[in-house]
Amino acid sequence: MTRAASPDLPASLRAALEARLHGVSRNEAAERAGVISKIYRDGGGSTTIAGETDALAYALARMPATYAADIASLNALVVARPDFAPTSLLDVGAGPGTAAWAAAEAFPSLQLCTLLDSNEALRNLALDLFSDSSRSSHISYQRGEASALLAKADTADLVVASYVIGEVAETERRSLARLMWEKTRDTLLVVEPGTQAGYARIIALRRQLIAAGAHVAAPCPHDGACPLTPPDWCHFTQRLARSRAHKQVKGAEVPFEDEKFAYVALTRAAIGQRASRVLAQPAVGKVNVSTKLCTPGGLEIARVPRRDKAAYAEARRWRWGDAVMEQMRIVSRPGEGRDS
Ligand SMILES: C[S@@+](CC[C@H](N)C(=O)[O-])C[C@H]1O[C@@H](n2cnc3c(N)ncnc32)[C@H](O)[C@@H]1O
Repeated sequence: MTRAASPDLPASLRAALEARLHGVSRNEAAERAGVISKIYRDGGGSTTIAGETDALAYALARMPATYAADIASLNALVVARPDFAPTSLLDVGAGPGTAAWAAAEAFPSLQLCTLLDSNEALRNLALDLFSDSSRSSHISYQRGEASALLAKADTADLVVASYVIGEVAETERRSLARLMWEKTRDTLLVVEPGTQAGYARIIALRRQLIAAGAHVAAPCPHDGACPLTPPDWCHFTQRLARSRAHKQVKGAEVPFEDEKFAYVALTRAAIGQRASRVLAQPAVGKVNVSTKLCTPGGLEIARVPRRDKAAYAEARRWRWGDAVMEQMRIVSRPGEGRDS
């Protein structure tokens, strides 16, 4: 059984974020968070994050969700590569340090985290947040343009780009991907919003780097072309709890949110045994559990009948995004049999 890190922000990070909110007008933070979120929804980037309040508003509004998506992706990587114990991390487009916090939770083996970002306000906030934690001695945060910094950076066991490649001009994305791969000693993880556009960016980078010799550790159980066809796209969802400050800054009542994300973890070594991936929330019915799977052989609908007690009990626990081993699948083709 592999360990799974929690999708909720570590208590020390949540406390550090909330401490920064003391003395700051919540209305102003909420207003700035609203503006920043709107710019994101409209396809803009983080260049609008200019000062201390902006950085804090961004972190309060978005860091819990990007952290949850990073943790979900890292947990999938841990399942695929239980022996992977990276000691060094490169966090490209690190912002408030989200992916570095997540990677440190998923991999206690990490000793050195190098963060790269051009945004001074986010860098200052990240360093401030780390200063309250035992992690600060493991952190080096360089400010500048990602490609220029990467070109000079040392290689790292794990390279992560979380919610970043969408902010890079399409013409520069391929060279950024190539550089990130060059600096990857073992695994590169790229996480994007779970939109069709985010998925398209992941698929383009995946195709480019497989051609350069990469192998997929997760989510795909193969290195071939993605079998999904539009309007379908590969994405996952992660539920996270909202703290009081998070709700205030977002003007939200509901105590949780569901973050949709797309990701790919690419490794230098081929993965031995590949698990199939659950591509949607399984339907649990009286007759069977049925779900859409991406398998090494392509897309399948798995139906696990109730009469197969042990398999049915196991399948009831499947969640969208899980890895499922071959022997657990009782498969029929779309359209065959009844769903429930
Ligand atoms: C949406 S934020 C994500 C931050 C963080 N990785 C996270 O998941 O919360 C995108 C970050 O990428 C940085 N960024 C975008 N393009 C960049 C570039 N060309 N060079 C350096 N940083 C860049 C931005 O400054 C911003 O901090």
